[in-house]
Amino acid sequence: MATIRLPGLIDPHVHLREPGATHKEDYDSGTAAALAGGFTCVLDMPNNTPPITTAETLAAKQAAARLKARCDYGIHLGAGTDNIESAAWLAPQVTGLKMYLDQTFGPLRLDDLDSLIQHMDRWPDNRPVLCHAEGRTVAACIMAGHLTGKHVHICHVSRKDEIDLIRRAKDKGIQVTCEVTPHHFFLSEEDAPKIGPGRSEVRPRLAKGTDRSALRASLEVIDCFATDHAPHTLAEKDSPKPPPGFPGLETALPLYLELVREGLITIEGLIDRAVNNPRRIFDLPVQPETWIEVDEDADWIVRGAETFTRCKWTPFEGWTLRGRVLRVVLRGTEVYRNGEVLAAPGFGRDVRM
Ligand code: DOR
Ligand code: ZN
Ligand code: ZN
Repeated sequence: MATIRLPGLIDPHVHLREPGATHKEDYDSGTAAALAGGFTCVLDMPNNTPPITTAETLAAKQAAARLKARCDYGIHLGAGTDNIESAAWLAPQVTGLKMYLDQTFGPLRLDDLDSLIQHMDRWPDNRPVLCHAEGRTVAACIMAGHLTGKHVHICHVSRKDEIDLIRRAKDKGIQVTCEVTPHHFFLSEEDAPKIGPGRSEVRPRLAKGTDRSALRASLEVIDCFATDHAPHTLAEKDSPKPPPGFPGLETALPLYLELVREGLITIEGLIDRAVNNPRRIFDLPVQPETWIEVDEDADWIVRGAETFTRCKWTPFEGWTLRGRVLRVVLRGTEVYRNGEVLAAPGFGRDVRM
């Protein structure tokens, strides 16, 4: 057994479903899943019911998180048509402004170019704007960010045309960063039948094998790894109208380690994408006395029923993964050990408080 010590991982993109859908996940179960996966800080998305776009909805989410989170967290604000004037006032309390430009889960959506530009114009220059953008809307976001002087972060890049465009923008000196999920590194549309028709629904969709290969060949362009942990219940996933989304927190690290074993990145490159770059891009405080211990040789079989996420399933069901989190220490306190989450709800801190 080879135990390695890594810094606590940071996931800049999770959906912990509180408020509004706590039957799928809440701050308690979602941050337990985070710790089990080796994450000591997660940044939570605003596509809740109601969406997190106002001071009131933000305060309600902060209150739930303060009571229930077991690991540290930040909250992203949503960009809606109702908060063009007011979003920037809330910037000091959040880790970024999230814009949804394409169809996905929930009603939070920016459809017109004018709202997009107005949001970017008003948002502080030193805070990132995160974009759920696919295909042509990636170009729209990069252009809008460039013209308004904002740092645009493209979420869950899944395709060759998108990563090629981001590379060209970076080569021109444009301030843009991006993230890729474990599922877009390891799955393609060919895996969908095996996962199942409803369960394989995710946005961006599982792409072609050539897209997956392009992402793997572009690691130098990819700033962050992000799970896009998006739990829905099995009953919902297997229904006639399956919502898109995969849980990802508890399977991410062994998949990231697989990229190292395949020679695509070094372990330092992994730490940059899973810790240092998210910290820098989202301006997160250092977590003192925080690390994880990982048995990098341990093989284990993924079983959704054995996970901490409330949704209790995974698109990687039955996969043998290599690398297991043994122990997590957060701010000097042992918070996870050998399958047991030790941190109580409320232990986690808001990175902006
Ligand atoms: O598959 C997805 N699920 N993509 C998203 O952008 C949203 C997420 C969710 O909230 O379920
Ligand atoms: Zn998204
Ligand atoms: Zn998401």
